[in-house]
Amino acid sequence: AVTIDDIASKLKNVGLDRVPAEPNTYPALNPFDLYRSHITELLSQATGIDKKIIYPTLQWTAKPENGDLQLAAPALRVKGKDMKEFAKEIAEKFPESPLVQKPVVSGTFVGFFFKAAPLTQLVLPMILKAGPSYGFNPNFGLRDPSDPSKGRKKAIVEFSSPNIAKPFHAGHLRSTIIGGFLANLYEGAGWDVIRMNYLGDWGKQYGVLAIGYDLYGSEEELQKNPVGHLYDVYVKISKRAAEEAESIKAKKEEIAQLKEKDEDTTALEQEVRHLETEGVDEQARGYFKRMSDGEPTALAIWRRFRDMSIEKMSQTYARLNIRYDVYSGESQVKDESMQRAAELMEKKQVSELSEGSVIIDFSKIGAKKLGKAVVKKRDGTSLYLTRDIGAVFERHEAYAFDKMIYVVASQQDLHLAQLFKIIDAVGYKDIASKLQHINFGMVMGMSTRKGTAKFLNDILEEVGAKMHEVMRGNAAKYEQQVEEPDKTADVLGISAVMVQDMRGKRINNYHFDMDRMTSFEGDTGQVSPTILPPYLQYAHARLCSIYRKAVAAVPDVADVDLQAADLSLLQEPHAVDLVRQLASWPDVFINTVKTLEPATVLTYLFRMSHAVSSSYDHLQVVGSEREVMLARLALYTCARQVLNNGMRLLGLSPVERM
Ligand code: ARG
Repeated sequence: AVTIDDIASKLKNVGLDRVPAEPNTYPALNPFDLYRSHITELLSQATGIDKKIIYPTLQWTAKPENGDLQLAAPALRVKGKDMKEFAKEIAEKFPESPLVQKPVVSGTFVGFFFKAAPLTQLVLPMILKAGPSYGFNPNFGLRDPSDPSKGRKKAIVEFSSPNIAKPFHAGHLRSTIIGGFLANLYEGAGWDVIRMNYLGDWGKQYGVLAIGYDLYGSEEELQKNPVGHLYDVYVKISKRAAEEAESIKAKKEEIAQLKEKDEDTTALEQEVRHLETEGVDEQARGYFKRMSDGEPTALAIWRRFRDMSIEKMSQTYARLNIRYDVYSGESQVKDESMQRAAELMEKKQVSELSEGSVIIDFSKIGAKKLGKAVVKKRDGTSLYLTRDIGAVFERHEAYAFDKMIYVVASQQDLHLAQLFKIIDAVGYKDIASKLQHINFGMVMGMSTRKGTAKFLNDILEEVGAKMHEVMRGNAAKYEQQVEEPDKTADVLGISAVMVQDMRGKRINNYHFDMDRMTSFEGDTGQVSPTILPPYLQYAHARLCSIYRKAVAAVPDVADVDLQAADLSLLQEPHAVDLVRQLASWPDVFINTVKTLEPATVLTYLFRMSHAVSSSYDHLQVVGSEREVMLARLALYTCARQVLNNGMRLLGLSPVERM
């Protein structure tokens, strides 16, 4: 990356003898840090106001017409002045600067515009040099920014967490997409990140599954498609269990009627007893009991199902650029951990006995809204909540995390609030404060041609196929440009699913819209193509093609170091506008670390790509004079780099052709 010395020499050229850098800013990584520091210094000298007060008041503007940064006069907390007058006074006092224009006042706001030429000279080399790391800042994860030897903070991101032999529903899809993004985000901020998948892989239903496999399973099918086959088996056996329950009920009613008429019920009673002792439900209970007791034969088959499912799932996750450090799961929580937690809850009088079960009445620990929860059933078996409690302590011991993020649908808000409250109430406030639930809304109508989507793979296949269809619609391009259409369609389909998911605020519900997802030429009529999910991929491919075309026209361009291009040739408003946007990417990144919203990144990338699109007609590359061509190529290369960095942060794989 660019060093402070590089920046210092650039600033010397414009007559600044020092790099402005307020505490905890990174001017070599983030142009906005440099400009905020610079403006802060000048304002403090001019007004006598403390720099610490000024710095945080310099904010982004809603529109580029208002400046690159702006300050609301009242935020300076100076008393007894008319704020409009004060804004004017600030602007007048602001001295001549080599980096910033004379401020523009609007009401109580003071707007600052960066001078174009030095901004271009600073930012583009920064991007070219930093390349794939431009925008990210590994300093945020340092325990002590002034002493890197103290190491990095550690975050566990727990996400996706589907249930074995059950459908992978929309909640899991969103958790996967958002969690993958959050893990990348913390990594980009320099944290050590552990990606964890907490599988639903324990409970009586895995006894049911084992019984079902005995009856309906096929080794061949299991090998071919473990995820789908186990689900089929589970559906069949559950149906049988339900029928048995139904029949028990019917027979009992019949018995009651017969008894009223004083008729013989022995045969029927025998049938009921048979069903109750030999039926699926009872067998499954027994089977799960043997699993819980750690009986090797009972565990062997379950472990095989689990291992095979994980292997298959990891292949699907890989298509989404996701790899896990740990496949944990409810089955992995040790009895001792739950036992210890139970003792703690009892000792701290957080839990109590109620009709044979152990429960928590949250109103007794100052959280009435959280209701009541069972932590131990009458038969002594653990529950979803109990396992989560044990897991917190286990993970804290194993990883000493500084933060643990649960990426789980908002349907489980209560569950996680209860969990966090319990950890707090038993005396581990420090651990509780490290836990965070990142929730999200629902996906409506997630269906494919085969019906309601059940598996991640099906969703990805379907959208890939649809995308391929759309691509074939443009025959000329399809034949000339795309080398591996299948692979490209797959990547584009996956991107579209992800972009659609991440474009709104996490908490909002959205509609799964296959047509909209896969249309990228604006062929839906009213909608502008620049807001459609495949647009970012399209913009990236087009930027790649600009470079290819330049090399095709002037072959030795391939050997030119674009860092040597004469950037002073980039003066057109479109070029300047684009540079300003590229300069703000590192700040967008920081802001995303605060919002934890993928939409923060997406909104920026859409806007920036739009600026690129609208500049093509004004900033031609091929056909321009050589020096101009190289300067524009440098600009477009930077735009491609920023788009690429943003897309990878989101978990997308940028394509070079489409
Ligand atoms: N397997 C759960 C489900 O599908 C999600 C697990 C969320 N994580 C947790 N620690 N409870 O609903």
